[in-house]
Amino acid sequence: MKTKIQEKFKTLFGQDGVFYASAGRINLIGEHTDYNGGYVFPGAIDCGIMAEIKLNGTQKVKAFSMDYDEFVEFGLGEEDKPEQQWARYIFGVCRETIKRGGKVEGFNTVFAGDVPLGAGLSSSAALESTFAFALNDIFKNNIDKFELAKIGQSTEHNYAGVKCGIMDQFASIFGKKGSLIRLNCKTLEYKYFPFNPEGYKLVLIDSCVKHELASSAYNKRRASCENAAAAIRKNHPEVEFLSDAKRVWLDEVREDIPEEDFLRAEYVIGEVQRVLDVCDALERGDYETVGEMMYQTHFGMSRLYEVSCEELDFLNKLARKMDVTGSRVMGGGFGGCTINLVKEELYEPFVKAAKEQFEAKFGHAPKVYDVVISDGARKL
Ligand code: GLA
Repeated sequence: MKTKIQEKFKTLFGQDGVFYASAGRINLIGEHTDYNGGYVFPGAIDCGIMAEIKLNGTQKVKAFSMDYDEFVEFGLGEEDKPEQQWARYIFGVCRETIKRGGKVEGFNTVFAGDVPLGAGLSSSAALESTFAFALNDIFKNNIDKFELAKIGQSTEHNYAGVKCGIMDQFASIFGKKGSLIRLNCKTLEYKYFPFNPEGYKLVLIDSCVKHELASSAYNKRRASCENAAAAIRKNHPEVEFLSDAKRVWLDEVREDIPEEDFLRAEYVIGEVQRVLDVCDALERGDYETVGEMMYQTHFGMSRLYEVSCEELDFLNKLARKMDVTGSRVMGGGFGGCTINLVKEELYEPFVKAAKEQFEAKFGHAPKVYDVVISDGARKL
């Protein structure tokens, strides 16, 4: 990938630049908890975005995407927003850096990625984090790492219309080889957990399904949670986020909120606790409990939060049938992958069965990715 980028950069701009990279992410458990002030438990993975960058002495960004085989040029003012979504991510990062008082001037860039698109592995966060990190380094803006993650998050909010939480950009900036990171999304306290489950593998099965309207459905889930939290807050003013609420406090407002919002909140409150339970279990080396929690998360995401789909439920059920230790839909949902914790001896038969049975039912083969937990944003 690096050589290809380098060749293209030379052809387009007749010079060499500096390389930066960042990563996609997995999440072991803690889904849709980030924007509710709860815990998440992600890690960066060994696929991501790589970009070569060099200042061009103008106030224009000249960007080439290898994957879209497309060149876009844009200015740095709010009115200069490009049409292409991939370019908007870069534009958004520039704008959000400037809004935070950072310096940004024109640059040339060529970039490419190997995060499967639409698989729920946060290719957009990888792109945002690469440029947030790179601009901070190049212009010596001294923006701290959390703020870099927030630059990516605000880019999603303001330039992609997704009211996401902080998990993806956090993982992609803070990721460390071999470790998962538990983040408290309210206090932003975090802790690295070396993750090397002896005798087990983490494998993703990508349904290759991506549902339209996923971002509006995502925003709708967030609104339901905020509505439930607001109702609970009337009785318990200390509830800033839904994750602060006790389950019984939710029951108190059952009649006051739409049933749908109640179910969404029921899932979130359970999920916040599951992250803590999984961390405890990991410290004991108790992978059976970790796996059981993953199944509970899947149930919640499918039935209460309603962000699964037929294909993902099928993969989850198959995993259960084959005694896979843990399995669940990963990321925002509405398509994408299941993440599976599988005993090594079961890995081959499970992957084989998943491929064959999925294809027989849905007419296309799923993709399989082994998870390698890797470093996040960096200069190469
Ligand atoms: C998407 C969002 C994240 C998070 C997950 C669900 O990946 O970008 O902020 O909410 O969905 O856990």
